[in-house]
Amino acid sequence: MRIILYTGKGGVGKTTTAAATALRAARRGLRTIVLSTDAAHSLGDSFDVTLGAEPTPIATDLWGQEIDVLVEMERHWGTIHGWLMALLHSQGSSDLVASEVAILPGMDELAGLLNIIHHAESSNYDLCVVDCAPTADTLKLLSFPEMARWYMQRVFPIERRAMSIVRPVLRPFVDIPLPTDQVFDAVQKLFEQLRQMREILVDPERSSVRLVVNPEKMVVKEALRTYTYLNLYGYFTDLVICNRVLPKEATTGYFVTWKEVQERNLELIRGSFAPLPIYNVPLMEQDVVGLEMLERVGEALFDDKDPAAFQFRGVHQAVTEESDGTYLLTLPLPFIHKEEVNLIRAGDELVVQAGHFRRNMFLPRLLAAREVTEAKMEEDRLVLRFPPPEPARVSAPSSRKDRRRPEGKG
Ligand SMILES: Nc1ncnc2c1ncn2[C@@H]1O[C@H](COP(=O)(O)OP(=O)(O)OP(=O)(O)O)[C@@H](O)[C@H]1O
Ligand SMILES: [Mg+2]
Repeated sequence: MRIILYTGKGGVGKTTTAAATALRAARRGLRTIVLSTDAAHSLGDSFDVTLGAEPTPIATDLWGQEIDVLVEMERHWGTIHGWLMALLHSQGSSDLVASEVAILPGMDELAGLLNIIHHAESSNYDLCVVDCAPTADTLKLLSFPEMARWYMQRVFPIERRAMSIVRPVLRPFVDIPLPTDQVFDAVQKLFEQLRQMREILVDPERSSVRLVVNPEKMVVKEALRTYTYLNLYGYFTDLVICNRVLPKEATTGYFVTWKEVQERNLELIRGSFAPLPIYNVPLMEQDVVGLEMLERVGEALFDDKDPAAFQFRGVHQAVTEESDGTYLLTLPLPFIHKEEVNLIRAGDELVVQAGHFRRNMFLPRLLAAREVTEAKMEEDRLVLRFPPPEPARVSAPSSRKDRRRPEGKG
């Protein structure tokens, strides 16, 4: 089963373009399921049908699913959550534990995403299109199994083996509800499922992410950050979709300036995401609701291309981590000599200029806090070196993990 994830800033058109992609793929005969994990569902509104928590038929070869995150949370997280709650109650003022629990925001969406494993195993579908929450926060979360483990170790301070000896002795004396075997099993099962899901989603033969943007500077900036994060965590991006581009017909009078602003931002998008392909969707004359409008969006988006195919297959920007905590940012720069490369750094913005090539990058916080100590060409790639900031080199491993916690928006 092929999996395509749509993400982007709030309101840019993720649901619309995900729905249009799914519909177009189904029209070409692919058995397609489109699902959303956002608690405020709008997938059904987009198709103008009522969708359930289980796959609901929409058209020939097309099913939609609005996952009930609360039910999924209960299913995947319930036992653990139950124990945490008991712990909270037993502790009275337990702000500390409460904040620990809050370390895993996005756990609800993650539980919803576990449906992907289910669909992948069922072989009912050829394609699964996922309408993700903004900025791929959940994907970041998924890429932190070590972070999740660290969290769990703080919540479960005693090793399981020690536990089975200690529990019968301790139980009568302490008022802390000790985690039962059931709780440990639930944790283990959850980790295993998350590991499985990550394996599926980082498999570049099966899965890809598509970034949806509008030709607006702030939107592009956030998408660039998300893009770098996706690279950092090993997800493969195959397309940028630029939605709500003013059509030629709308370039007179009041909209002349808007058109110019959009042109500039389209240039920024092209310069920033190269060599990824960028497909445009025009601003329609009305909002996109129902199959007919979605078909128009799908046609504008893919023309005669296969919407389920990988739209890009080459090497693009990569972020890797070395054993000493240094990050390497690699950019493909074919036909460029080292002497031509110029780096301009202003805060979280990094501009790479080489001949006619100009690449704007908005660094994620993780990299923005660091200096570039070296830039070198390796064959046709530019490699930038971001070593850890000085104090962090001598700090304890636990504080490094602190730093690497997934962040909020971008
Ligand atoms: N190209 C377009 N032309 C006209 N209207 C559009 C276009 N794309 C999206 N819309 C409309 O804009 C609104 C928001 O789109 P959509 O729900 O797809 O965004 P979203 O990124 O999924 O938002 P959210 O972050 O809230 O989930 C919808 O009413 C949709 O019909
Ligand atoms: Mg949406």
